[in-house]
Amino acid sequence: MKEEFRETLVIGAGAAGLNCALHLPAPSDVLVLCKGGLKESDSFLAQGGICVLHDPDDAAGYFEDTMRAGHYENNPDTVRCMIEHSRETIDELITFGVRFAREENGELAYTREGAHSRPRIVFHADCTGKEITSHLLAAAQKRTNIELRPYTTMLDLLFDDGGTCLGAAVRDNRSGEVSLIYAGNTVLATGGVGGLFAHSTNYRILTGDGVGAALAHGVAADHLDYVQFHPTTLYTKRRGRRFLISESVRGEGAQLLNAAGERFVDELLPRDVVTAAIRKEMAKEGSDHVRLDLRTVRGGEHTLEKHFPGILHRCRKEGYDVLREPVPVVPAQHYFMGGVRSDLSGRTTAPHLYAVGETCCNGVHGRNRLASNSLLEALIFARRAAQDITDGGRAKGKTVWDYTQKEIAAMQRARRRLVTQETHHESE
Ligand code: FAD
Ligand code: SIN
Repeated sequence: MKEEFRETLVIGAGAAGLNCALHLPAPSDVLVLCKGGLKESDSFLAQGGICVLHDPDDAAGYFEDTMRAGHYENNPDTVRCMIEHSRETIDELITFGVRFAREENGELAYTREGAHSRPRIVFHADCTGKEITSHLLAAAQKRTNIELRPYTTMLDLLFDDGGTCLGAAVRDNRSGEVSLIYAGNTVLATGGVGGLFAHSTNYRILTGDGVGAALAHGVAADHLDYVQFHPTTLYTKRRGRRFLISESVRGEGAQLLNAAGERFVDELLPRDVVTAAIRKEMAKEGSDHVRLDLRTVRGGEHTLEKHFPGILHRCRKEGYDVLREPVPVVPAQHYFMGGVRSDLSGRTTAPHLYAVGETCCNGVHGRNRLASNSLLEALIFARRAAQDITDGGRAKGKTVWDYTQKEIAAMQRARRRLVTQETHHESE
């Protein structure tokens, strides 16, 4: 079986994986894997925007909004850390070339989403994720120390007998070849779990693989039942990924209506509350959707065309003219607040294994994530994980570099037996 050795292995090429790779020092050797194509990540799908501390006076408000949305189950330390580093993160994205919407005077424009007490979300039309992640990807592609390897699936993590992570077993999706990648440090950035749900806004390939592999080896994970449902996805009878209608349309004035054309909920309550209200209304009416009226968006057609061109285009493609009629919407799975337990530097309970982005649970989001906190959290804690790896980390115990060739060969034989069994089961 083929084997290779890397200083750092990053599993996942969304915003979290890419930002981690980009913050590892240029001379270090980094391999970034992903299961599908390089642009097939939820990070590319993000619509509404990315939160930032609006000004120093907003710190208490931003903290309170995040905690209240999360039912105060958040870890206050990680929330404070995210808020504190938010402005420098946006500034750094701008240095990568990311373009955010601006007011006429050149200042950043801010929009609002559910459960935010004030506008504090910066955005790029309704495709903020694509704007951010394509710039991170372009920067990673320019780095000679970073290898990006698409269509490669992590099947399992490798550990020594002491529980230290040594890398991963992976499969080349195109050739079917299974190989072992040994790494001094391994970073799980495998995103969410939407692919496990019939109705989700997520890419179907996102099936919680990082969490599954970690759990299988006794690495701690938290809140596996904390799954967020977004209130408004475009209703369809077709199978496949659900198209999101960003919460920022409600932030800008769109209204939720029942079959009688009446409002039934404050559209800017936290996501879980709005989702529950929609479900209740659907049950009352015996209907499988409610309606979202975008005609009440402030600034009307001009705002819709300027701020939400992707949503307008998709609705038109599906036969709805949002300028003339409300569109049918229904809640769908959207985000996973649980995940591999990680600290402020992305460290998991296993030495030399890190978890960042939606795969991890560092407590920022509590029981229900505040809108547009995900990209920010992913970027900040991925950068902190890279810093920890660079500093040598607090991780104790051996790394793969402390083993002799003979010891590695023995581990490889054991691993080959396991992988062969797994491949056999999969083909059954
Ligand atoms: P992802 O970007 O999902 O990347 C996961 C990576 O892991 C992929 O490259 C995938 O191929 C790889 N992977 C998975 N399993 C394996 C495996 N076994 N082997 C190898 N690779 C693997 N958040 C906001 O803050 N603001 C928004 O406006 C916003 N809008 C959203 C809109 C939509 C439609 C969706 C779906 C999400 C939105 N979110 C938003 C949430 C946010 O986009 C995600 O939580 C965030 O991008 C997750 O980043 P990530 O890097 O952790 O994971
Ligand atoms: C949206 O635009 O509604 C999604 C924002 C998010 O998931 O944070």
